[in-house]
Amino acid sequence: MDFRFDIILDYLPLLLKGTLWTIGISILSICFGSVLGLAVGLGKMSHRGYLRWPTSMYVNFFRGTPLLVQILLVHFGVVPLFLGSTNPIIASIVALSLNSAGYMAEIFRAGIQSIDKGQTEAAHSLGMTHFQTMKSVILPQAIKRMIPPFGNEFIVLIKDSSLFAIIAAPELMYWSNAMRSQYFKVWEPYLTAALIYFILTYSLSKLLSYIERRV
Ligand code: ARG
Repeated sequence: MDFRFDIILDYLPLLLKGTLWTIGISILSICFGSVLGLAVGLGKMSHRGYLRWPTSMYVNFFRGTPLLVQILLVHFGVVPLFLGSTNPIIASIVALSLNSAGYMAEIFRAGIQSIDKGQTEAAHSLGMTHFQTMKSVILPQAIKRMIPPFGNEFIVLIKDSSLFAIIAAPELMYWSNAMRSQYFKVWEPYLTAALIYFILTYSLSKLLSYIERRV
């Protein structure tokens, strides 16, 4: 086995371009996923059945089916339905955001429900509305508790975005596969991909524990 550093250097620009897509897809998905997840999480906590039922089904569906299946459904089903043709980047962002919202909903719900009920009662007795209580009393405290699971979710998204190679989204894994096919080499592309993913997730986890200590 001769390990060829030269082909890694050859492919490095493409691998780095892929890494940027990996980062971009993950950041957009965690943003969209958080907004949708907050809505779904609040819906799940509602005492109105018509909000609780569909949001619970949402979480059950996206957590109970494989991400790979969701990606294929979005790529070959949902995106062509709306755009008239497939688009791997859009499908990736949509699928990962929808999937992440299911997990984020539970992170929000757990964070909100971990705040003592007495605080809601105190806010209500001061005359605050339900919305004001959420916004000014509960969420600011709950968000602090959500930082660690939120960070885990981000790391999962970065790693799981590798599944998008299967629909030819030009992210890191896609270019690693391309490199393997071009040179018939296994160790060089996949060890390089593993190293880049590791650098991303490791620095992110360091950054998050720094933020956690600061907050
Ligand atoms: N990889 C697993 C799956 O195929 C878990 C996905 C986890 N997703 C998340 N956003 N935490 O379903």
